[in-house]
Amino acid sequence: MEVITQATAEQAVKLVSCLIEDRVKVKPDAVLGLATGRTMERVYAQLAMSAVSFKECTTFNLDEYIGLPSNDTQSYRHYMWEHFFSKVDIDIQNTFVPDGQATDLQQAATDFENAIDTAGGIDTQLLGIGVAGHIGFNEPLSSIMSRTRDKCLTPKTREQNAAMFGGDANKVPKRALTMGVGTILQARELILLATGSAKADIVARAVEGPITSMVSASSIQLHPNCKVIVDEEAAGCLQGREYYDFVFANEPEWERYR
Ligand code: GLP
Repeated sequence: MEVITQATAEQAVKLVSCLIEDRVKVKPDAVLGLATGRTMERVYAQLAMSAVSFKECTTFNLDEYIGLPSNDTQSYRHYMWEHFFSKVDIDIQNTFVPDGQATDLQQAATDFENAIDTAGGIDTQLLGIGVAGHIGFNEPLSSIMSRTRDKCLTPKTREQNAAMFGGDANKVPKRALTMGVGTILQARELILLATGSAKADIVARAVEGPITSMVSASSIQLHPNCKVIVDEEAAGCLQGREYYDFVFANEPEWERYR
């Protein structure tokens, strides 16, 4: 794992979008794993301005609320359309978001996993982190080997996401269909982005704490190719900061991004 701290959220966002652009330049038909949440809005805004073409890309989103129609403005399908898919040249047929409206959720989860396999697996998976320590909607006690399935959201997560539901946590759906931790770990590369002081404690627990299903984001420590990109505020509780900065300043792979 590498932890890269940028001075501002804007720079952290810029670095993440540069990495994604570079992946697509090298492999125009890249399979991208996408995330939602407020942090990612700026990444999509940045990517939408880039000259890179997403025409041949396939995308898989981490998660979707259960029970919200896809045209509901709070659904992640709608979020993706609004922030990214409608702004770039991607073929909408090649964009996959778990089907939170399916009558048979187990079948929808299996279909989603099969679609990832058929696409050849995810090349680069973008991740945010929830204050409850989740990646996707893998709430505490999510098995590190879990696959796509439905999960019950924690009160903390519903509170965190209430802003998108008019500030009322009771309006946030109680369940979601999410890629499993095991599904996420199968991607060939992980890029986790976190910004702001509210994420400082959970970022440190994910990066430096024990690997535990209580903090599903800590499972990224098991991944052989994982980058964590944070701003100064989100890096606030990291113990090993000096070394992480040294790596970023000296590793040849980061030369063009410094
Ligand atoms: C939601 C998503 C997560 C995302 C998290 C972060 O809960 N299911 O995938 O990581 O939001 O949200 P924000 O960026 O708004 O802090």
